[in-house]
Amino acid sequence: MKKLYEKPFITRHHGGIINKFGEPPRTQIYDSIDGIKVSELIGRFGSPLFVYSEKKIKEQYRRLLDAFTLRYPKVQHSWSYKTNYLKAVCKTFHNLGSWAEVVSDMEYEMAKKLGIEPAKIIFNGPFKPYHILKTALTEGAMVNIDGMDELYDAEKIAHETGNPVNIGIRLNMSLGTYTAWDRFGFNIDSGEAYRAVKRAVSGGKICLTGLHCHVGTFMLDPDIYRMAVKRLIEFSKLIKDEFDITIKYIDIGGGFASRNKLKGAYLPTDEITPAFDSYAEAVADELLSAIKPGELPLLILETGRALIDECASLIASVCAVKRLPSGMRAVIIDAGVNLLFTSFWYNHNILPAVDRGYVTEDHVVYGPLCMQIDVIHPQIKLPHLEKGDAVIIGPVGAYNNTQWLQFIQLRPNVVMIGENGDISVIREAETLEYLQEKERVPEWMG
Ligand SMILES: Cc1ncc(COP(=O)(O)O)c(C=O)c1O
Repeated sequence: MKKLYEKPFITRHHGGIINKFGEPPRTQIYDSIDGIKVSELIGRFGSPLFVYSEKKIKEQYRRLLDAFTLRYPKVQHSWSYKTNYLKAVCKTFHNLGSWAEVVSDMEYEMAKKLGIEPAKIIFNGPFKPYHILKTALTEGAMVNIDGMDELYDAEKIAHETGNPVNIGIRLNMSLGTYTAWDRFGFNIDSGEAYRAVKRAVSGGKICLTGLHCHVGTFMLDPDIYRMAVKRLIEFSKLIKDEFDITIKYIDIGGGFASRNKLKGAYLPTDEITPAFDSYAEAVADELLSAIKPGELPLLILETGRALIDECASLIASVCAVKRLPSGMRAVIIDAGVNLLFTSFWYNHNILPAVDRGYVTEDHVVYGPLCMQIDVIHPQIKLPHLEKGDAVIIGPVGAYNNTQWLQFIQLRPNVVMIGENGDISVIREAETLEYLQEKERVPEWMG
């Protein structure tokens, strides 16, 4: 009998399945966070769920402070609110000794409401409306001026109040980084910074007390900080010689890399992320070798992501599984890019919280939004997860709970596991009433 014709097909080779080269690496299963079972967390607080670890926050903070204070005698950390302004997170850092670093009137008020005295609030950013600039300057906050318009405002405020005002200035310079962070502050290379200081002192109403510089974000090379600090010291010496200004603090901003995986990064995160010691060595070495012991300025750190990123995970659950036309297996989870804004630039780690065997396959992980761009991970090896299975996504502590979007879904519970094992809801899941509280339907619509 004539055989039926069957169309030939090419099967894609999936690296995670046993093949002639042997067995793939075994899947790691993480079924608990800080000793609390994921199943218990979901049972009590639902899925998706952000989980913070108080223990990890304290460990990270200690590691950063140890690295710097062992090498330099005058160090102060200031918690970067925009990185994460959940009250419980800020409070944990403040209780450890951190000041507050804010970039808006909203954040300034947040810090004050948490009991931070203005003298311990560093006010940065390119937009400080007159009223809040006046409040911050008259209350004694540490304001780092971003540009000439702000400088004129500061001068006007000094004139209005009849008192000179203390300010710091933000500086930028060419350091060979891509992208260059040149939109903030005054440029040293072009002479703009020098001219700004000259203008400020000649008005007689401004006291310049500090220099600030945030070189950029996710800086994998500690030597960038060495170069920046060198330039800041040179600049402080120039203005000392020219205008007899003594700089009391040098603020190096944030930007240390966390252990997240940047999209496009080739090497494993652990191999490319510098330890806090490497950053501290570069900065302290430069300061100590260029400045006499009695004249050392206070070194301010505004480290955000490198402290908090690894202290939070997002628990999510698989809501569907499908095969794409390409042959790729896809899982759809209940947390999307609305909750995980950082998935636009990181390939987060996604770990199964249940045992589905060790055979893995490349997967694309989608969120629940009705949008093609809702991709949490474009390609990751996972076992054959099934509907209802939980996964742990991390690290997610930096910039997600400030940049998350209210879109299609309500935002879920956020909990913190205390050092003592207690679990506390630090932000309640949103409700429809909460979401629509500020909305009004015009009366004419009936
Ligand atoms: C002025 C300033 N300080 C601190 C930070 C915190 O940076 P990171 O979270 O990268 O440490 C930022 C972030 O953009 C910043 O702009």
